[in-house]
Amino acid sequence: MPAQAVPEGSRDASAGPGWWQTGVVYQIYPRSFADTNGDGVGDLAGILEHLDHLAGRPDSLGVDAIWLSPFFPSPDFDFGYDVADYVGVDPKYGSLADFERLVEGCHARGMKVVIDLVLNHSSSQHAWFQASRASRDGPYADWYIWRDSPGRSTTGARRAPNNWRSFFGGPAWTWDEARGQFYMHTFLPQQPDLNWRNPAVREALLGVVRTWLDRGVDGFRLDVFNTFFKDERLRSNPRRVGRRGLWSWQHHRYDRNQPELLDLLRELREIVDQHPGRMSVGELFDGSLAEAAPLIQPGHLVFDWSLIQVPWSAAAFRRAIETRDAVFGAERWPANVLSNHDQPRHASRLAPTAAVAASGYEGDARARVAATLLLTLRGTPFLYYGEELGLRNLRIPNAEALDPPARRANVLFPWWNRDQARGPMPWNAQPGAGFTSGRPWLPLPPDFAQRNVAAESADERSVLNTYRALLRLRRATPALERGAQELVAQDHPDALTYRRTEGDAGAFVALNFASRRVPVSVPAAPAGRTWRVVFSTADRASSEALPETTTLGPLEALVAIS
Ligand code: GLC
Ligand code: CA
Repeated sequence: MPAQAVPEGSRDASAGPGWWQTGVVYQIYPRSFADTNGDGVGDLAGILEHLDHLAGRPDSLGVDAIWLSPFFPSPDFDFGYDVADYVGVDPKYGSLADFERLVEGCHARGMKVVIDLVLNHSSSQHAWFQASRASRDGPYADWYIWRDSPGRSTTGARRAPNNWRSFFGGPAWTWDEARGQFYMHTFLPQQPDLNWRNPAVREALLGVVRTWLDRGVDGFRLDVFNTFFKDERLRSNPRRVGRRGLWSWQHHRYDRNQPELLDLLRELREIVDQHPGRMSVGELFDGSLAEAAPLIQPGHLVFDWSLIQVPWSAAAFRRAIETRDAVFGAERWPANVLSNHDQPRHASRLAPTAAVAASGYEGDARARVAATLLLTLRGTPFLYYGEELGLRNLRIPNAEALDPPARRANVLFPWWNRDQARGPMPWNAQPGAGFTSGRPWLPLPPDFAQRNVAAESADERSVLNTYRALLRLRRATPALERGAQELVAQDHPDALTYRRTEGDAGAFVALNFASRRVPVSVPAAPAGRTWRVVFSTADRASSEALPETTTLGPLEALVAIS
């Protein structure tokens, strides 16, 4: 395969692929990583203390970057995704000096730092919103999306300006007594949407980007970035067949994905590109692959969610990969995600209940196959803290949920409980799991005595050591980091196989989704070469040469290189 098979569209072609393409990003939810002052809430100093786990030592995981979920001052109606000050650090997480130390510590280990900017909406406690609601003609009057009520309904209630819904349940409009108008919120009423059509707002938010670049961050994850712009005339969304009142009851034509976004993205990239080697990744909110594709830009990735809801089936993953490849083409670089702070943990999602309950290898076998997939597919892998341990969902009844939409859930608003994926990171078997000396804000995982960083480090076959081995292999194998990708057809429905090619070198990946043995045919290696096994979750001799057909063991994941 010629060298120009390296994807061009999402990077500066002259410079080779960026670290955000070849590298692996690790998402940290700061509340839950490590607590140093015993208040039960993780903090920046805790992250700094645990950087060795991530990079810089031979037994580190070996990731290239961390992405920090929000650590800005926040009243926590949506646990940090409601920001009251975009350039500060919430005292519960530490100080700006702690943040600077963290950036230094990461950079010293060759790790980049990506922060999470929530620029679609602020907290209702942000000074901008307080000023905006206080006066209809003050300097901040037009910083949010305010509208008069068009009148009263037959029951006497004030009618909302249009039919838009909040993703977190209820209408997207809340009446504000102080101002005597409705304001718009895609999420909670405590998360008013900013008015990106106002040049002063645009300037202020791009100023936030500049501030953090000057503070040395290497990239941004842009929360729900395709909702920044709404229809200028605020037209009602067309209806769609479904249950009245639900988010999915309407086509979201006017409350997201407006054409103005592309121009903003260009301006944002100009600012980011003034600092070489910086990246951004936008979270596509409730959008299709076709909507995601044009938003992938040089230096800018998009979370398209192709993989995060795929069930445990080789055919389903194959379809998801094929569909995305067809829409994105060879030139757009995907982002691959199996877990994050909004979705169930994939070790639970992808495994049957009995396996989830089991703590041994049997229960972890699917997590290890999934890890192989995530770390060998074409695209940038984003890991979610704890997945490298095979961490399961916490079981927290909705009635006890802290996650705000889970507390609002009802028949008309079915919602999952995101607390289940946001629990404390277990570091060791001590009381508090090495996470805290106090009472953790969410419960510790029930199996933390066995499933923790210390115990898994000592166990060659643990999920953690599987991740370490795969990351090492990836770093040593350009075909895995950046190669072109081609699915390899198999007769057996439970096998998913593909090859990656970079220059003369290749990699072949074979995954068995079944708990029994499965035959696979092996494609021809590049001329004059043979496939040698370099990784397997089964007991296979390393550097075994692969013949034209081989048999995968139950839930075996295998990588061979040529
Ligand atoms: C994004 C975040 C999610 C948050 C929402 C509103 O989807 O990932 O956690 O609740 O935006 O900010
Ligand atoms: Ca703390």
